[in-house]
Amino acid sequence: MTADPTQPGTQNKHDYGEVMFKAMTSRQSVSPKRLSEPGPSPQQLEKLVEVAGCAPHHGLLRPWRFVLFEKEARPKLADVFEAALLERCPDADEEDRHRAREKAARGPLLLGVIVTVDQSDEKVAFEDQIASAGAALQNVLLQAHAFGYAAKATSGRAVRTQAFRTAIGLEKDETFLCFLAIGTAIQSSRTKLRPNAQSLLTNWNGLAGG
Ligand SMILES: Cc1cc2nc3c(=O)[nH]c(=O)nc-3n(C[C@H](O)[C@H](O)[C@H](O)COP(=O)(O)O)c2cc1C
Repeated sequence: MTADPTQPGTQNKHDYGEVMFKAMTSRQSVSPKRLSEPGPSPQQLEKLVEVAGCAPHHGLLRPWRFVLFEKEARPKLADVFEAALLERCPDADEEDRHRAREKAARGPLLLGVIVTVDQSDEKVAFEDQIASAGAALQNVLLQAHAFGYAAKATSGRAVRTQAFRTAIGLEKDETFLCFLAIGTAIQSSRTKLRPNAQSLLTNWNGLAGG
């Protein structure tokens, strides 16, 4: 039996660190337009949601939830996208409406990330609540990548319309943060340049502004 690399004192703990580093640095988003079947299996979907549940969350709030847009419901989601467009742009032409509808079909697996934002919570700032949802969605993206899938988080203006909110059944204090489209990349994308660590890190030396 192989030792569990996550356990303290395990000899190959270092290998686990390298594997994690490789997984995180090799993940990059792929547009929902460039995702095809297969998507995650039901068992993999369960694991994707399980890793979301391991995200940090202040005050034991876990202020977010996921919704699965089932394949059979995609034509209805297309109606919702069209209604959202018409709410924003009542004069939208046929082509715009068609483009809005098309979005509903993208992503073999399509999840929505919904965050409950309680601005009156004195203990857990609303920034902490949104950050927790961000951590949860990143866990999902990373696990999907580890399973060999490509994915992308997208929001867009439709999700902020009343037509969309009503159709999805959002509560008053809920915000639809984004979709997560997950599937198989139909073409390999160019490797993105990532910032180097030094550009993201400053030191504080104890002096104001130092
Ligand atoms: C909550 C959230 C919403 C996003 N919405 C969009 C979007 O609507 N359109 C888009 O092109 N990118 C969107 N992005 C950014 C992409 O998901 C992606 O992170 C970005 O293109 C950088 O690519 P990378 O993940 O490979 O670094 C969003 C990211 C987050 C976290």
